[in-house]
Amino acid sequence: MIAAEPRTLPEGESPDLILVPATASERIASIKLNSGEWKGPLDLESYIARENHLLTHRLTRDALTCWVLVDRREPEDSRTILSACESYRKPALLAHHGQVEKVSTHGVGSVFSRPEFRGKGYARRMMEELSTKLETWEMEEEKRGKSVFTVLFSDIGKKFYAQFGWRPFPSSHMSLRAEAGVDTGARELFAEDVQKDLCSEKVMGKLHDQMLAASQKSPVAKIAIVPDFDHFSWHWAREEFYAENLFPERSPPVVKGAGVDKAGVYCTWNRVFGETPEENLLYILRWVYEEPSSPVDEQTTIQAMAAILRRAQHEAHEWNMSKVVFWNPTPLLQKAVALVDPTSEIVHRENDSVASLRWTGEAEGLGEGVEWWLNEKYAWC
Ligand SMILES: CC(C)(COP(=O)(O)OP(=O)(O)OC[C@H]1O[C@@H](n2cnc3c(N)ncnc32)[C@H](O)[C@@H]1OP(=O)(O)O)[C@@H](O)C(=O)NCCC(=O)NCCS
Repeated sequence: MIAAEPRTLPEGESPDLILVPATASERIASIKLNSGEWKGPLDLESYIARENHLLTHRLTRDALTCWVLVDRREPEDSRTILSACESYRKPALLAHHGQVEKVSTHGVGSVFSRPEFRGKGYARRMMEELSTKLETWEMEEEKRGKSVFTVLFSDIGKKFYAQFGWRPFPSSHMSLRAEAGVDTGARELFAEDVQKDLCSEKVMGKLHDQMLAASQKSPVAKIAIVPDFDHFSWHWAREEFYAENLFPERSPPVVKGAGVDKAGVYCTWNRVFGETPEENLLYILRWVYEEPSSPVDEQTTIQAMAAILRRAQHEAHEWNMSKVVFWNPTPLLQKAVALVDPTSEIVHRENDSVASLRWTGEAEGLGEGVEWWLNEKYAWC
């Protein structure tokens, strides 16, 4: 049986171990195994339904691989899952030597070993194998035939994944408590507004141009995971699944962000439901704004950000969430936070959601360093 304990467990270094894509039934078995860790307030059946629902989403439909570390001598579908994880192929941009390339990357998530198999080197073996596998996995259509980087968000600190090349990158956040508010002057954004205001050709073109200009100025390669509508709507598919499951009497949340048109400042968010109200968080997935070109412009931008943050606090309150959280706030955003709540401080995460990137561009002549652009919550998986 898949979840049964074999009579003798193989060593983590055993040549009999292989990392392979799970069969459909092995994928379900691995979801069941990790449910205790990640199902949150859902029951098991709903958690499996959530995973199946998300699998059909545009972001992941043809892009998600569930990996299992197994003993090659066991027959498919009856293999003991020693460790498991998922990888998500995503579109990305790579800027270097005065050019911008469209590339693909993988995000890694759901790294898991069942409690009774822990400490035996299975996750280590899995990550070792995965690190090199992902360099060419589903990269046949890439110009280079390989990825130049992959990412993950570590919930177990900075050391474990660094051994396999996933180096920690800036992982800070600020938060504001949920609060019922008056009209702040920010416009609510619905899904179609987010598409128009945060995912337009103009916005994407600007990102491309900024990366291009930066790559002409400095020799260090720059990458960004494309902040496209599929990313945002995947996060919303999660929140809507939870909302429908946990609050069947309530319409699912439709306000997906806020903006101030005259300042050109927008953000989109999603709601994360935990097991207690304290764990319910409204995450800002991404900010879009023009770099101000004068002190007056700067004040307008900061005021707009503050209005949007207050609207987000109100939205968090509406959904019984404790806080609004946003990753790697820019200096401008920090000034806006100071207007809303001067006591809010920046937190540098050491243990959870540590943004980590494995760079293999050096072998491609792209240099040893890399800058991660748009290191915001939308890229999390
Ligand atoms: C993290 C996890 C996958 C490790 O699996 P495993 O098969 O026991 O891992 P290995 O035996 O290969 O390696 C154990 C290593 O894990 C690391 N580790 C495990 N849990 C850790 C934690 N909570 N914090 C920091 N490091 C941790 C240790 O560094 C240990 O290294 P060591 O041997 O040098 O002491 C497993 O503990 C697990 O499934 N945990 C719950 C889910 C989870 O947190 N997944 C990670 C999400 S990013």
